[in-house]
Amino acid sequence: MPQNNNNFIKYYDKLFLNKDYSKETQYILKSFKIYSDLEIKNILDLGCGTGSHTIEFYKLGYNIIGFDLDEQMINLAKSKTKKINFIHGNIHDYKFDTKFELIFSFFNVLNYIENYSDLKSFLEGVYKNLTAGGVFVFDGWNGNRIPVDPPKNKEIVINEDNFSAKGMLYPNYDAFNNQAKFHYVININDSGKHIEYENYLPQIYWSPLILKQMLFQIGFSKVEIFNNLTLEKASIDNYKISWICKK
Ligand SMILES: C[S@@+](CC[C@H](N)C(=O)[O-])C[C@H]1O[C@@H](n2cnc3c(N)ncnc32)[C@H](O)[C@@H]1O
Repeated sequence: MPQNNNNFIKYYDKLFLNKDYSKETQYILKSFKIYSDLEIKNILDLGCGTGSHTIEFYKLGYNIIGFDLDEQMINLAKSKTKKINFIHGNIHDYKFDTKFELIFSFFNVLNYIENYSDLKSFLEGVYKNLTAGGVFVFDGWNGNRIPVDPPKNKEIVINEDNFSAKGMLYPNYDAFNNQAKFHYVININDSGKHIEYENYLPQIYWSPLILKQMLFQIGFSKVEIFNNLTLEKASIDNYKISWICKK
């Protein structure tokens, strides 16, 4: 019988083995340096998952906190190193005693936020926790591109030594509300042990215009949107976009 998310998290890193966390870390750092002259004393990784970016920053010598709502993700991150402070909590509602020069939120964390009020709390929280002159970098799906070419069924195939995964993602897309509910079914073979997982993942495709207006209304002095992981201005052709916002 298919299982849900319980135990699935332990395979998260294997399923995203090809994601280049080091390159993304360099992009976040480069963005910060272009937009701010501040010395980085503290960094916050919002929606850190299993801590892959957090650990990259730590290895570069930065003081960083990883923060995520999913306790299993946070526990997995903690099991990788005792040297980083990984905290369990909700990005809609948190407060730290220190402020951060750099806050980032990567790998579509934005698209997990399901309503306008949570979106506003998330962005207000980032603003409050940033040092003046600090930078917030995040990525997400381009809410203007998705209606032009909605998500399609996608196959997942991973073959490693002693580990393989084969699965499908079915994006049940609601065009009027510009959101999808992904149904995924994945068969994993872990050293001869077969497990089938099944779950649903909602994705909300926020409008860049509304987001930009919200960020300015909250108080950010500069907000720019780029094609994913580049410094080329975003366009309707880009599925994935990166945001750089300065307090
Ligand atoms: C696709 S994962 C990305 C994880 C990590 N940033 C990475 O790049 O591997 C999205 C993460 O956002 C987290 N997340 C979603 N909503 C959240 C919330 N309200 N508060 C904190 N974390 C949240 C999820 O638990 C999940 O770990």
